[in-house]
Amino acid sequence: MKQKLKRIFQCQSCGYISAKWLGKCPDCGEWNSFVEDVLESEGLKKQLIEYTKPVAINSLEIKISDRLSTGIGELDRVLGGGVVKGSIVLIGGDPGIGKSTLLLQATDNLAKKYGKVLYVSGEESLTQIKLRAERLQVSSENIFLLSETLVERIIQCAEEEKLSALVVDSIQTVYTEEAISAPGSVSQIRESATKLMNFAKSAGVPVFLIGHVTKEGAIAGPRVLEHLVDTVLYFEGDRGYAYRILRSVKNRFGPANEIGVFEMTGMGLSEVENPSIIFLSEHATTSGSAITATVEGTRAILTEIQALVAPSSFGMPRRNFIGVDYQRVNLLVAVLEKRGKINLAGADIFVNVVGGIKITEPSSDLAVISAIISSFKDTPLPDGLVIFGEVGLSGEVRAIAQTELRIKEASRIGMKRAIIPKSNLERLKDKFNLKISGVRSINELIEILGS
Ligand code: TYD
Ligand code: MG
Repeated sequence: MKQKLKRIFQCQSCGYISAKWLGKCPDCGEWNSFVEDVLESEGLKKQLIEYTKPVAINSLEIKISDRLSTGIGELDRVLGGGVVKGSIVLIGGDPGIGKSTLLLQATDNLAKKYGKVLYVSGEESLTQIKLRAERLQVSSENIFLLSETLVERIIQCAEEEKLSALVVDSIQTVYTEEAISAPGSVSQIRESATKLMNFAKSAGVPVFLIGHVTKEGAIAGPRVLEHLVDTVLYFEGDRGYAYRILRSVKNRFGPANEIGVFEMTGMGLSEVENPSIIFLSEHATTSGSAITATVEGTRAILTEIQALVAPSSFGMPRRNFIGVDYQRVNLLVAVLEKRGKINLAGADIFVNVVGGIKITEPSSDLAVISAIISSFKDTPLPDGLVIFGEVGLSGEVRAIAQTELRIKEASRIGMKRAIIPKSNLERLKDKFNLKISGVRSINELIEILGS
C-alpha cells in the first residue's frame, strides 16, 4: 500500500516545521537551518496507549540503590550523586573534547561494580574502541561493545541482556526504521531518543547518549532532545587546554549548573578535586590580575581574572573578552568611565578568565572592574585578595547569593583578604580568618584599592 507522505521543511536546530523553505527560522532565529523532510500521516503511527492509575505520592518509596555510582567522583557530582536507574543522560560537547573517553572510563567502573554494560558505537570501529580501552586501562570483563546504528536492533540487544547501563555513542549516528528522513535529522534524533528513553524507563537501565555539537555550539536538534532527556551535561573547554569542565545544564535529579573539572592526560581524563588550587596555581601578583570566587552548582571555585588595558594604536579601540559575557563587560567599562571617572575611551581592553573556565554569574563584576583598574593604573592588587559582587548601572555594588560559601573556599585556599558587597557583609554570621571589607559603590572600591 502506498503510504501517505507529506513534504515539509524542518529547522534542524529547534524542530520548527514549515510548509516551505525558509532562510531564517521564525522560532529560534537560526539561519539556513531548514532541511526538507517527510512527515508520515498520523494514521500510520497510532499506538496502543496504556492507561495507568494515579498513585498517592506518599505511597512511593525511594531507595538509595536507585542511583549508581560511576566511580568518577566529578561525574557523580554533576549527575547529582550518581546516575539514576532508568534515567537518560545526554552528554554534549565539541568533537575530540573527551566524551567517548569519559564514558568509556565510567563504563569500566559501572561494569566492575554493577554488571554488564553495553557500549554501542556508531562512530568508531570495535578495534578503535579496544585500542582506546587499552590506553585507558579499561579492563572489565563486563563491557560489551556493539557496532550498530539501527535503534531497534540496539534495543533488542539491550533487552536480551541484563544490563546495568547502556551507552550510545552518538545519538546523531543512530536511526530508526520508523522515520524516513536521514540519520542525524531532527525527526530521526527525536524518534530514536524517544525509543531509547522508553527502553530506559521500562527496563530501569540508565542510558547515556553522546551528542555532537554544531559549529554554533548547540547539540544538533538541541531543543527536541533537551525536553526529552532527564539530564543534559555539556563538556566545556578548549581542546588547547588540558582542563575540561563538565556542566549540568538540566538535571531532573540534582542541582543544575553543577560542574565537574577534569584534566586530559595521556591515560584519559583524571579528576581535579581541588579546582581552585589548579586555577590559581600560576597566579602571580602582577597588575591586571584579580581573584574572584564563583559558585557553580553547590561548590565555590576561585578563579583568576586578567585584564590588560593599553593605549590603542587604532582609531577604534579593541575590546576582547574571553570567559566572561561580552555585553556585561562592555557595560562595566561604561560604568567605570561614567561613575568611576576613569577614562578608557582610547584604550584597548582585554579580559581573560584563566584556565578556560566560563563565568556566567554577575558576581564576578567587581573582580573584572578591579582587574581593569589595576591594569589601567599599572599597580598590582594586594596579595591574597579575593573580590566578588555585582555592579549596577549607577556604580552601586549589589549583594549576591552564597557569600559564606565563597568566603569559606577563599579562606580554605589561604586568602588573606576579601572585598565584598557591603550589604552581604552585614549578613555574614560566621567568623572567618580573613579580613573582610564591604563596599557600597565602585568609588569605594577605587578608594580601598588606592589606599
Ligand atoms: P574523545 O573521547 O574521542 O572525544 P569525543 O568523543 O568527545 O569526540 O577524545 C579524544 C581526544 O582526547 C583526542 O584528541 C585525544 C585525547 N586523548 C588523550 O589526550 N588521552 C587519552 O588517554 C585519550 C583516550 C584521548
Ligand atoms: Mg567520540
